[in-house]
Amino acid sequence: MIHHKIVTIERHIIEGERAHPGATGDFSGLLRDLTLAFKVIWREVSKAGLVDILGLTGNQNVHGEQVKKLDVFADETIYRAMDHGGHLCVMASEENEDVLHIPENYPTGKYVLLYDPLDGSSNIDANVTIGSIFSIYRRVTPAGRGSMQDCLQPGYKQVAAGYVIYGSSTMLVYTTGDGVHGFTLDPSIGEFLLSHENIRIPRRGKIYSVNEGNYRWWFDPVKKYVKYLQEEDKATSRPYSARYIGSLVGDIHRTLLYGGIFMYPGDSRNPDGKLRLMYEGNPMAFIVEQAGGKASNGERRILDIQPTKLHQRTPLFIGSEEDVTICEEFLQGKRDLQQRAAS
Ligand code: AHG
Ligand code: MN
Ligand code: MN
Repeated sequence: MIHHKIVTIERHIIEGERAHPGATGDFSGLLRDLTLAFKVIWREVSKAGLVDILGLTGNQNVHGEQVKKLDVFADETIYRAMDHGGHLCVMASEENEDVLHIPENYPTGKYVLLYDPLDGSSNIDANVTIGSIFSIYRRVTPAGRGSMQDCLQPGYKQVAAGYVIYGSSTMLVYTTGDGVHGFTLDPSIGEFLLSHENIRIPRRGKIYSVNEGNYRWWFDPVKKYVKYLQEEDKATSRPYSARYIGSLVGDIHRTLLYGGIFMYPGDSRNPDGKLRLMYEGNPMAFIVEQAGGKASNGERRILDIQPTKLHQRTPLFIGSEEDVTICEEFLQGKRDLQQRAAS
């Protein structure tokens, strides 16, 4: 009987920390508290249809979007799981305009957590895949209570990033800069167990993912790039399929495993697009780059963007390295439909 190693996320972090001398074990404590929050959210998500937490709260969030009860529940669950462990100096959430401070009576730590507590909320009532996204930095202020300055760091400074996908099974996918690893929740023991070690994204895929309902507002280069993907290329017979879930976590997870490209472009209505840099663009860019892929705002690497506002938006073109590179060539006017032969 071959005993497969049972690798929980804690064991994975601790073994990872041993490889990183100087790690204080502080980080594994942070991840443990965070995974507890995700298990509590999973429990609510998996019975959402049974209890009255569907539907709207009647409130709007900072972006003027209708807030569903599960968003609020997830937001509070993560904050309450993380406010007392002494690992963080400050937090920031999609659901809160300003930064979230650690209560006076709790110790502060050296990390910063930014999170999207519930991603894909428009899909909640239809039982379509939703998720949670997190992004972790080291603090830049010296000590005590953290500040906005600790939160507004460029993405390449992240020490960890990950997401939970509440789908047919619930998975946690994360990176600490040493590859991307996936853990599947075993509900019978309530543990995330290592199931996808060292995920690598294919260098090129055959799926593109974008909300074509926005076609009339797209800038021409985006229209040309999508037309390029839709035309069968005799040389490489590369007809792409279209897949769009409408939950960033679902669309990115599929792109990570199958390859291809996900796009949320800027357009004539919203030049910066819809997705938020700090708790959607940056964590997903860190993960996809660590898996061998690429993430761009059309002109530059997402992780190199110096943020100025907590909730600032960014266009996002992310996925297989070759797909994103060809997309950027269209966006930067270096490639046109006539140049099909190139690939
Ligand atoms: P959130 O639910 O956290 O606000 O995120 C929703 C985002 C993202 O999950 C998804 O990629 C995008 O909204 C879909 O937007 P459209 O419905 O405009 O395509
Ligand atoms: Mn989101
Ligand atoms: Mn959200």
